[in-house]
Amino acid sequence: MVEPFADYINTGEWSKKSIKEAKKYCTVNVAATSEATGFTSIPKSDTWKLDPNAAYVHICSNETIGGVQYHSAPNVGEVPLVADMSSDILSRPIDVSKYGLIYAGAQKNMGPSGLTVTIVRDDLIGQALPITPSAFDYKQQADNDSMFNTPPTYAIYIAGLVFQWLKKQGGLKAIEAHNRKKAGLIYDYLDNTTFYSSPVAREDRSLMNVPFKLKNEALDEAFLKGAKELNMLQLKGHRSVGGMRASIYNAMSIEGVEVLVGYMKDFEKKNG
Ligand SMILES: Cc1ncc(COP(=O)(O)O)c(C=O)c1O
Repeated sequence: MVEPFADYINTGEWSKKSIKEAKKYCTVNVAATSEATGFTSIPKSDTWKLDPNAAYVHICSNETIGGVQYHSAPNVGEVPLVADMSSDILSRPIDVSKYGLIYAGAQKNMGPSGLTVTIVRDDLIGQALPITPSAFDYKQQADNDSMFNTPPTYAIYIAGLVFQWLKKQGGLKAIEAHNRKKAGLIYDYLDNTTFYSSPVAREDRSLMNVPFKLKNEALDEAFLKGAKELNMLQLKGHRSVGGMRASIYNAMSIEGVEVLVGYMKDFEKKNG
């Protein structure tokens, strides 16, 4: 029997974690990686070394830490496309038919942590490896209406309330416009100053997570302290990339982003 293998596109910390886990179950072929450039872009799809015999191609649609995001589903031919959408699901409409499987932790745009949503194409159900734990066997889950194991009922209830809220905002098209406006406020400013910079390639910039750097890193602590005084918390970038990161998920308001940009401008005036 031919050993199963899968193609992975490595665009950052969450891709790396997926690759590490997948290696427990199959051979992983890293078909493309942006590691050499510090994961600041998505490798151009015409450079991907995809194998038509792969069981699937895996991407992380939004790298939460690095702030790089796919702005459309890549074309991978007949091989099922699998996406970790944990940090951008429900931030914009997506064409689900382009994917074989989508999975996403709820904790960014959906609800509380501890809940994971998986959307699987019908024909991919029932192909689990014999060693797959039953709770992760999508056939078992589908046959049991997603209640093979005890579901996290409270998290699901809260997610239901978030879905109602999303509908009231006008649905995914409206929330995408809202998210574009928010991200645009920060990126426009970053592109018009030398005091701060955005490390990510323009065409791959995330609408959810905006990493940025102060030109003078010695000012990082003062920047964070001033932000905290204005109740802006968690702006420190992940330790693997440093700098700052503004996470502006669906629940963040335009006013909140305006306060951030106003603060960034003030800080530049005082320290630039
Ligand atoms: C893109 C991405 N994938 C996976 C995860 C892991 O989620 P969890 O901690 O729920 O396993 C995260 C973290 O929130 C993430 O941002």
